[in-house]
Amino acid sequence: MPNRQVTVSIDPESCTGCGLCIKTCPKQTLALVDGKAVVRGDESMNCGHCAAACPTGAVTVGATDDKALELKTVAVSDEWIAPGRPDASMVVGLMRSRRSCRNFRQKGVDRQTLEDLVRIGITAPSGTNCQPWAFALLPDRETVTCLAEKIAAFYRRLNRMAARAWIREPMAWLGRAELKNYFRQHLATVEDALDQWEAAGKDPLFHGAPAAMVIAADNDASCPCEDSLLAAGNILLAAHCMGLGTCLIGFAVEAIRRDARISRWLGFSETQTVHAAIALGWPDETYHRFAQRMPPRIHRVRP
Ligand SMILES: Cc1cc2nc3c(=O)[nH]c(=O)nc-3n(C[C@H](O)[C@H](O)[C@H](O)COP(=O)(O)O)c2cc1C
Repeated sequence: MPNRQVTVSIDPESCTGCGLCIKTCPKQTLALVDGKAVVRGDESMNCGHCAAACPTGAVTVGATDDKALELKTVAVSDEWIAPGRPDASMVVGLMRSRRSCRNFRQKGVDRQTLEDLVRIGITAPSGTNCQPWAFALLPDRETVTCLAEKIAAFYRRLNRMAARAWIREPMAWLGRAELKNYFRQHLATVEDALDQWEAAGKDPLFHGAPAAMVIAADNDASCPCEDSLLAAGNILLAAHCMGLGTCLIGFAVEAIRRDARISRWLGFSETQTVHAAIALGWPDETYHRFAQRMPPRIHRVRP
């Protein structure tokens, strides 16, 4: 459950009564009394907007931790960058240039870099500021291979089951067509991937990545899936800036969600669900231009 307890405190000595903390508070936790900001509400989102808006640093939010966003491998200024100030061409150029990487050099990614990516991930917004994320870091090829093996075992079992018409057909009649759909759409590709893994020693799942990260969220959060994918989006872009290649691995997410043993092995509890898996490493590929997209479908809505 999100922490709604009020942990805001205001130093009356430094408060100038400008009211900026009250203006930015989404919950009416604060009020202006006798020219000073004071805590009035009995609920807080602990979003830290009040502390960030205060010109004199009079507001502190106990639930937040100054060290939570501290990075070890990237130098970042503490300065808030106002809308309109960042170089849009740089940001858009970065978004266009990030690619799903499927060729990695066999060089490890150090743990601090992975932890910094987590800290960058959690700068993402989250529904009602739940911050429901949990991250499993797989810092070396051996651990990634161990996860890939568990996922391969899951798909071997699934393929055996889906191949049996006497299981998948009655299930479809009973309104559970997932196995039949899997049989039609994915069985052959997954079988081929398993052959590559077993016979040719190739890794078509994590593409031979030397590291990986799995993101889960608490099920009782308001938007656990969205929160996880927003954190993942931040991580993909930041990783590109740090020279790392990334690839989201949907096939891994599916297996981890359906096999609780893998989720537990990753350190997640029964009350958490995995929403993203990212293969990570130093890329062994370059591009000469950014990839194009299909035209977007835009609806112009009128009153
Ligand atoms: C939710 C999701 C799941 C994905 N799963 C896989 C996957 O299992 N294996 C893979 O190689 N790529 C996977 N991708 C990468 C997509 O294939 C890739 O994003 C898409 O082709 C566009 O290319 P780009 O990321 O380079 O822009 C996934 C992407 C998303 C968003």
